[in-house]
Amino acid sequence: MESALTGLLNKKMKNTKNFMSSENKTMKFESNEFHRLGLLHKTDKVLHHKYSKIYDFFLKSMYKNEGSILEIGINQGKSLKLWLDLFPNAFVYGIDIGVNSEGENFRIFKKDQSKVKDLLDVQKELRDKKLFFINDDGSHLPEHQLLTFNTLFPLLEEGGVYIIEDIETSYWTKHDVYGYPTRYGYKHKKSVIELFKDVVDGINSEFSGEREYAVKHMNSIGSITFSQNCIIIVKEAQEQRIYRYRHKL
Ligand SMILES: C[S@@+](CC[C@H](N)C(=O)[O-])C[C@H]1O[C@@H](n2cnc3c(N)ncnc32)[C@H](O)[C@@H]1O
Repeated sequence: MESALTGLLNKKMKNTKNFMSSENKTMKFESNEFHRLGLLHKTDKVLHHKYSKIYDFFLKSMYKNEGSILEIGINQGKSLKLWLDLFPNAFVYGIDIGVNSEGENFRIFKKDQSKVKDLLDVQKELRDKKLFFINDDGSHLPEHQLLTFNTLFPLLEEGGVYIIEDIETSYWTKHDVYGYPTRYGYKHKKSVIELFKDVVDGINSEFSGEREYAVKHMNSIGSITFSQNCIIIVKEAQEQRIYRYRHKL
């Protein structure tokens, strides 16, 4: 016969099991909104990269936001449709070297993200547009990814999210992408992954001190996440942060 204590423990374990299985169900990325709409629009963000494993976590609090988002790299517009559905209250801006288009809730500028002037034109155009999300799915070249981040990150609102996709090209040593040769490799000095690793020190720059970082705006980065094929950066201005233990530096 079951003692009172064993009975209590069994009951507790059963409850824990139920709790864990319902938790698992809700944590499954296949059930999130990003994944559902990504499948609907057949975007490789879901089909190939499985970005829905992590994007929904960072973006879901902004799905109902007003304001604007920007994507670099539009191609046939599969992700454009995803963004329009995912952010129904926002205006979607885009940049593409080969696309010039506009509609009721979107506008695509034909611009080259490797050119400082083109990026500055976009910066000027979008200055007052309340951007809360920027996604770089353009040329996938580390030099362009860095230049685009350094030029356009100031456009992002406080709390906004900046994602750099397809960072795996930084490991490529052969062939090319969109006609640009990819001659990089593990720990290559131009690798966007190596450059953004410095942000780990930059987030705590009050301790690590001033350095000539290649990535700019370190003082406005609240967090950085490296995931499969992407880097996710959350903006948070640090000017006001006063730390108690400066005397220990
Ligand atoms: C991967 S596709 C974008 C896919 C799209 N975001 C989607 O998920 O459906 C990359 C796009 O970047 C564009 N691109 C390539 N080099 C570029 C550059 N230097 N500046 C701007 N766009 C570029 C290409 O024309 C192509 O349309």
